[in-house]
Amino acid sequence: MGKTSKDKRDIYYRRAKEEGWRARSAFKLLQIDNEFNIFEDVNKAVDLCAAPGSWSQVLSRKLNENHKDASEKPKIIAVDLQAMAPLDGVIQLQGDITKVSTAEKIITYFENSKADLVVCDGAPDVTGLHDMDIYIQSQLLLAALNITTHILRPGGTFVAKIFRAREGSLLYSQLKIFFEDVCCAKPSSSRNSSIEAFVVCKNYSPPDDYIPHMLNPLLTHEPLNYEDLKDVNKYVVPFMVCGDLTQPDSDACYPLNFGGGEYSYSEPIQGPIDAPYEEAIKMESSGSKPKNMKKSTDTNEDCNKPQSINDFKKKAQANVNLVDNSTDNSSILCEDITNLQITK
Ligand SMILES: C[S@@+](CC[C@H](N)C(=O)[O-])C[C@H]1O[C@@H](n2cnc3c(N)ncnc32)[C@H](O)[C@@H]1O
Repeated sequence: MGKTSKDKRDIYYRRAKEEGWRARSAFKLLQIDNEFNIFEDVNKAVDLCAAPGSWSQVLSRKLNENHKDASEKPKIIAVDLQAMAPLDGVIQLQGDITKVSTAEKIITYFENSKADLVVCDGAPDVTGLHDMDIYIQSQLLLAALNITTHILRPGGTFVAKIFRAREGSLLYSQLKIFFEDVCCAKPSSSRNSSIEAFVVCKNYSPPDDYIPHMLNPLLTHEPLNYEDLKDVNKYVVPFMVCGDLTQPDSDACYPLNFGGGEYSYSEPIQGPIDAPYEEAIKMESSGSKPKNMKKSTDTNEDCNKPQSINDFKKKAQANVNLVDNSTDNSSILCEDITNLQITK
């Protein structure tokens, strides 16, 4: 495949590189903001599942524009399991959004006050098994909601990725318990062919007796019949397409000179750090095979055995390097399983 083929196929990918965004997802948040004005009066923001960091870039740019004349600089914290290259003015926390310790670190950084805005573009690695992927995405959204109940101030805004699928209506209802306004947004930079959309939840107002926790009792494994749902559980959210008709179609291919100007190839803004596939590439080029892995001709299925989330996390954690910080205005917090170090 040629270097330019992805540029031809995906105009938002190409524009992201031209405009300096680390990922094309930046346009999704920008288009959501155009419709919902999510950055208004926001001084403290949290980007959950932030790597490689294009949403943090948008937050940094927008919040700093809004606070040009203010004496207090905006505070932005980005959380991800994976290491992320430093971004000026963004604090990074390498950690898991399902852990209460992550919520505590965020509150500590905000000096015991809470965030005005929490965004989450979290996505687990897709398995290709449709139902499984939808289920895991719903669980991640609920984990994001859980941590948000610890870190968002009353009246604050929460934006998160959702897969529009069977459990969707129940998820919306559960969000509606915590937020006055819940809307489903589909930015035009998000492919029509994808079931991805975003919930935009405004005016955080949890029930009076609600005690934030990190357990996840909200989504059950029971089969769901929409007709059986009642009252708040039958809430139908408004659906809003964001991005006007002048925006390119994210499912279409465009010629490289689309839009007039002369095309020249741009490299991606930020390559992956510690990509999990790097070891496999090294091993493939050196002709070796991973320890404990049997030859592909082996009939034993051991090497294809599913691993538990904990095994997976342990292995991932073993590969995590503590990231040192280099820029003046940013610092990186790197969490290992039991303790967290702050490097400045
Ligand atoms: C689609 S990417 C986010 C892209 C990002 N919004 C951007 O614009 O650059 C999804 C991220 O979710 C992160 N993620 C998935 N599960 C997580 C968890 N439990 N805690 C923290 N991050 C998680 C992944 O590591 C991955 O980097």
